[in-house]
Amino acid sequence: MSIETVLVTGAGAMGSQIAMVAALSGCTVGLYDVDQATLDRAVEQLALRMTAQVAKGRRTAEATRAALSRLTIATVLDEHAADVDLVIEAIVEKLPAKRDLFARLDDLCPPRTILASNSSSFVPSAMATATARADRFLNLHFFNPALVMRCVEVVRGPDTSDDAVRTALEFVEQIGKTPVVLDREIPGFVANRLLGAVRDEAIRLLEGGYADVAAIDTAARTALGYPMGPFELMDLTGIDIGYLTKTARYEETGDPADAPSATVTALVERGDLGRKTGRGFYVYDDDGNRTATTDLASLKGTH
Ligand SMILES: NC(=O)c1ccc[n+]([C@@H]2O[C@H](COP(=O)([O-])OP(=O)(O)OC[C@H]3O[C@@H](n4cnc5c(N)ncnc54)[C@H](O)[C@@H]3O)[C@@H](O)[C@H]2O)c1
Repeated sequence: MSIETVLVTGAGAMGSQIAMVAALSGCTVGLYDVDQATLDRAVEQLALRMTAQVAKGRRTAEATRAALSRLTIATVLDEHAADVDLVIEAIVEKLPAKRDLFARLDDLCPPRTILASNSSSFVPSAMATATARADRFLNLHFFNPALVMRCVEVVRGPDTSDDAVRTALEFVEQIGKTPVVLDREIPGFVANRLLGAVRDEAIRLLEGGYADVAAIDTAARTALGYPMGPFELMDLTGIDIGYLTKTARYEETGDPADAPSATVTALVERGDLGRKTGRGFYVYDDDGNRTATTDLASLKGTH
């Protein structure tokens, strides 16, 4: 089966761009959200982005106009779900909300429809059991910003059929992305686990007193070719985001290795969350210059 019609649920940061990626590839796309204002904002921002891409010569005005005309928005699920090949769910990261939506979709969608979640933390089996089609359920995990980032992780659950994986993989290629298939589900999938491992080792080196943040970031950039060091990246994405992810993982597994580090916990507790608060592993001034935070060594003793 090839995917021609797509329903994206959730029109936030991820859903709106995933919908646009699918529309640009020629699919007919429905974009659903509970909030009309969010849908209006999503379409407005996508139109602005497309205008910018045309101005930069990356796309033609005709192609973006045609893609936008293939995209329709709705606050009512029924009409869009009734005849769709693939649903990509990108609503709020709350398991009961996702399970509830998938149960409704399972009732509304025809038997052929593949249900996919873009969730970063919930594995397919946590959601598929809310439906009677675990064989046609998987995660399609995009990266932010979805219009730009090439990787899409295709995560199969224990009951996902080979056929559904093949169709999803072909869809990812059809929309111009690079699929990475996970044969078994694991929280964090591949890319975020790799990123987490580098971040954890960087913190171990820092807390062990082996090297300071600037030295570790410099090694990542100049020896490994990373565009940004692990501490620079944590400051950019928000130290609280990594803290919450690790706390959730620790609550799930009980493995002390999954718990947030003493340094990260202390930074979050004192409100030093990175660039957004002007202070994290580095201190940022109004001109965008930065210096390393000086009292990090003492923080690990506070937890
Ligand atoms: N932001 C990221 O960097 C990123 C990256 C990869 C995956 N994800 C995943 O994508 C999903 C969405 O993340 P986001 O950053 O776009 O969130 P967001 O908060 O920007 O958007 C979520 C949207 O879902 C809508 N919504 C909430 N409940 C709904 C419901 N029951 N039905 C329909 N719409 C509903 C909200 O109105 C909102 O517009 C999450 O599962 C997240 O884990 C996020």
